[in-house]
Amino acid sequence: MDFLTLFAIYVAVVITCMFLVCKYSGQPQSPFNTLLNYLFKVVASFTPQWLQRLSQRTLHRLFHQRSNLFIYVHILLEGAVYAEFTYEVFGFCRDMDTTLTSLSVPYVLLVVKTFIFYLCIKTDPGTVTKKKVSSQLHIYPYDRRLFHPGVSCPTCQLVKPARSKHCRVCDRCVQRFDHHCIWVNNCIGAQNSRYFLLYLFSLCAMAGAISLLTGDMLLHAVLRSGLLRASYIDEYGQQQPAGPLFVVQHLFLTFPRVIFMLGFLVFLFFVLGGYALFHAYLALVNQTSNEWYKSRGHVCQHCHPTAAADHLCSPVPDHSKRYYYSRGLLRNLREIFFPLKGVQKKGN
Ligand SMILES: *[C@@H]1O[C@H](CO)[C@@H](O)[C@H](O)[C@H]1NC(C)=O
Ligand SMILES: [Zn+2]
Ligand SMILES: [Zn+2]
Repeated sequence: MDFLTLFAIYVAVVITCMFLVCKYSGQPQSPFNTLLNYLFKVVASFTPQWLQRLSQRTLHRLFHQRSNLFIYVHILLEGAVYAEFTYEVFGFCRDMDTTLTSLSVPYVLLVVKTFIFYLCIKTDPGTVTKKKVSSQLHIYPYDRRLFHPGVSCPTCQLVKPARSKHCRVCDRCVQRFDHHCIWVNNCIGAQNSRYFLLYLFSLCAMAGAISLLTGDMLLHAVLRSGLLRASYIDEYGQQQPAGPLFVVQHLFLTFPRVIFMLGFLVFLFFVLGGYALFHAYLALVNQTSNEWYKSRGHVCQHCHPTAAADHLCSPVPDHSKRYYYSRGLLRNLREIFFPLKGVQKKGN
């Protein structure tokens, strides 16, 4: 394959990945998503009805119903990255005498991450049940700002504890609801926020470690090829040093899969890194994504089941009170790692 074809495929795949990640893991009403939704509408006006209906149904099934699909996608991508790493990078780095210790870092991280991933999937996030609801109601006080006492979930027919929310994908109310994560096919709530946080950071570490080792390999490959000192004769017969474009082209053609993987991982590293930092911030200020979002005065259907779909939370967000619930960073963090249990009465 020639350089341009390869490069075009590469760019197309990267853009598709970026697009999908932004569309489906971001906040539903971010400016970015608004733009994407607009783009979707434009595209939709050119597609036939049956295709639209089919894609709508598929999207619904993928993102609004529980399914393990994304867990499999996750494992598949991971498998591909690790196969590629083991097959091409590991051996090369061994020859360039990178220590075995640094080369084993990605594998250790993989084991750790898989364990956390499993916990995140399997842990009950804190489902509000008939049996437990009476104790769950005492975990947090109602703030009468975002959460009001005496509101029942119309679906579960149970009184909603403060900070809980009904997950429409799982069809249950979850205590200290954060969000529903399609990648773990589970809600993130009181009992698994800690795993989710660790999961994000371990995934980042994995992407970072493999990227560094791969970068190291490519650097060695460039040095070894001698391209940096090479030159070529241009069309006027002048000798020109081979510039960076030459190096890139050379790497692309020699290690297409490795470059591909590196691009993917670097992208992942920054996206996940940002997301992990956001969740760390939320953990530190004792907020859930759900609350963060609501207190920004975004659309809220949860203050009151009867509220119009587009009413604004009242009172209107007061930014001076954004850390209203925080009792200090460490205590907030402790609450993530040792979530309050239903039996515990609040305020002692
Ligand atoms: C976190 O916020 C809740 C109210 O939403 C509060 O009851 C709880 O005590 C806070 N926890 C900490 C550690 O500040
Ligand atoms: Zn419910
Ligand atoms: Zn859910």
